[in-house]
Amino acid sequence: MNWDEPSSTATALLLLGRGTDPASERGVDCPGDLPAPSDPDLVARATAAKAALGDRVFVLGHHYQRDEVIEFADVTGDSFKLAKEAAARPQAEYIVFCGVHFMAESADILTSDAQRVVLPDLAAGCSMADMAALPQVEEAWDTLVELDIADRTVPVTYMNSSADIKGFVGRNKGVVCTSSNAERALRWAFERGEKVLFLPDQHLGRNTAVLQMGLTLDDCVLYNPHKAGGGLTAQQLRDAKMILWRGHCSVHGRFTLDCVNEVRERIPGVNVLVHPECRHEVVTAADYVGSTEYIIRMIEAAPAGSAWAVGTELNLVRRLANAHPDKQITFLDRTVCYCSTMNRIDLPHLVWALEELVAGRVVNQITVDSGTAHHARTALDQMLALP
Ligand code: 13P
Ligand code: SF4
Repeated sequence: MNWDEPSSTATALLLLGRGTDPASERGVDCPGDLPAPSDPDLVARATAAKAALGDRVFVLGHHYQRDEVIEFADVTGDSFKLAKEAAARPQAEYIVFCGVHFMAESADILTSDAQRVVLPDLAAGCSMADMAALPQVEEAWDTLVELDIADRTVPVTYMNSSADIKGFVGRNKGVVCTSSNAERALRWAFERGEKVLFLPDQHLGRNTAVLQMGLTLDDCVLYNPHKAGGGLTAQQLRDAKMILWRGHCSVHGRFTLDCVNEVRERIPGVNVLVHPECRHEVVTAADYVGSTEYIIRMIEAAPAGSAWAVGTELNLVRRLANAHPDKQITFLDRTVCYCSTMNRIDLPHLVWALEELVAGRVVNQITVDSGTAHHARTALDQMLALP
């Protein structure tokens, strides 16, 4: 299994990823009149609105967005690239974020007070991010304080977390990471402490610790926020090097070892390429693992005729298959797998958000309060400064 490094050989599904927590689909209706999805002028309307706004607007698109939305993105990327792009656009009055809520929050934190960040559909949350709430994390930290191990523990949060959690991490001298820099973030953290509290994705934490950092599965414990003390004994918490929060991605959690075995049998010589949000046994059995940006680079670099089974969200895999007809690109799972909250952003919502901006009305603005933003920014800046 190769992690996140293009190698020489590299030159080489509908399951609804529904949120398990109601907050992931925030139950917020758009306050205006959305154009009908059947409106034949949607593309022309989006084009006209973007042209009218010119340099005042910058549209960011995560790789999991629908094709109809990606078409209007000024830049596409993984979470890390989009955070950097947002921070690098001080001239844009409006940042329209075609992604999910935690990404738009991070963009608001990384941009100036004069800039406004818009999420075209407020229901575009992330079930994984919702699995770590601030009171739960503070309770976990209190447990570590009581056990006298908090001062030796560095909190690290995946980008897929609320601004509150990033603020907590910033206040407690930790760092944010994404799927493309988790190893660097963990190395940074272990230079500063003996333990890491990794939030909220157990799989990214475990996969990075074991497959990239050389820790063992026994060095990791799973903290269940719904149980007293995380369901762990004091000794387990004292002995652990990685305290993994019990969160996961409902989309990537669908890929199993059976999927890997089945595709290897069905397509001899297939390269299995997965996202690190997948379960440990899936990542271990895969040939390559990395962020969405890495997955794209690998497929682009692959030789014609090569076969790939990709374990990530459907919009991206389908786009890759369409863009590379000379390569055999298939879903790792036979059941198709969208991220339902990423899919909330569709062309009608984008047209509505852009046309409202043209009319001088900022809709669905994402704002993070200044106290939270201050500490979250510390943790995000630390991530951007990682070697
Ligand atoms: P990356 O694009 O950073 O790999 O993250 C994937 C993801 O799940 C975003 O929600
Ligand atoms: Fe959240 Fe998973 Fe969707 Fe990413 S793919 S936004 S982690 S639910």
